[in-house]
Amino acid sequence: MPTPSTPSPPLRYDRVARALHWLIGLALLAQIAFGFLLDEIAPRGTPARGAVINLHKSIGLVLALAIVLRLAWRLRHRPPPWPAAMPAWQQRAAAWGHRGLYLCMLAMPLSGYLASNFSKHGVRFFGLALRPWGPDLPAVYGLFNGLHIATAWLFLALIAGHVLAALKHAWIDRDGVFARMGPPLSRNKAEEDPP
Ligand code: HEM
Repeated sequence: MPTPSTPSPPLRYDRVARALHWLIGLALLAQIAFGFLLDEIAPRGTPARGAVINLHKSIGLVLALAIVLRLAWRLRHRPPPWPAAMPAWQQRAAAWGHRGLYLCMLAMPLSGYLASNFSKHGVRFFGLALRPWGPDLPAVYGLFNGLHIATAWLFLALIAGHVLAALKHAWIDRDGVFARMGPPLSRNKAEEDPP
């Protein structure tokens, strides 16, 4: 039981964690859509193909940096405790779901980057040519590209589960779990600044 000298634990993620969650989450959804629409936007063999693929690669590498920052922040900042009324199986499912999401966040850019380095095209990072450090091996490219595509589908399934669970907390359970990751614009001094 907290006393005036022992501050109660925060009820929400801190502002940096909430900002990174919403910024990276929305950017990743856009990047997944961009990836699936590549063939629509610039079909193979058309002059625009190279520039469009390289835009996808460049955005993906920027996202990779943001994801590493997010993971580093998460590892150094303990999330708020779950509400006591939340069943243990749900707490376990949420923890494993979050681990899966972080794994996909890392595997998406890594598999795309590795694939690109086993192709003669390499990566043009916003116009700057980064020489591929691997040989042009279509079989290895295909392997990492297959991983890139399979991870995109797994990622989408995990995101769908994540969103549905969050909405269940917001609309059915109404237990404050959704607000833990609410928009970063509002600031509740009592929650975030220990007295
Ligand atoms: C950071 C997050 C990233 C996400 C969410 C993402 C997502 C996707 C998706 C959904 C596709 C379509 C897969 C399909 O054909 O069904 C795709 C294709 C592709 N991605 Fe990414 N990607 C990311 C980063 C990267 C990076 C960093 C690179 C390379 C440096 C890259 C290289 C590629 C390439 C070359 C393709 C086209 C493969 C083909 O020839 O069909 N991606 N990406």
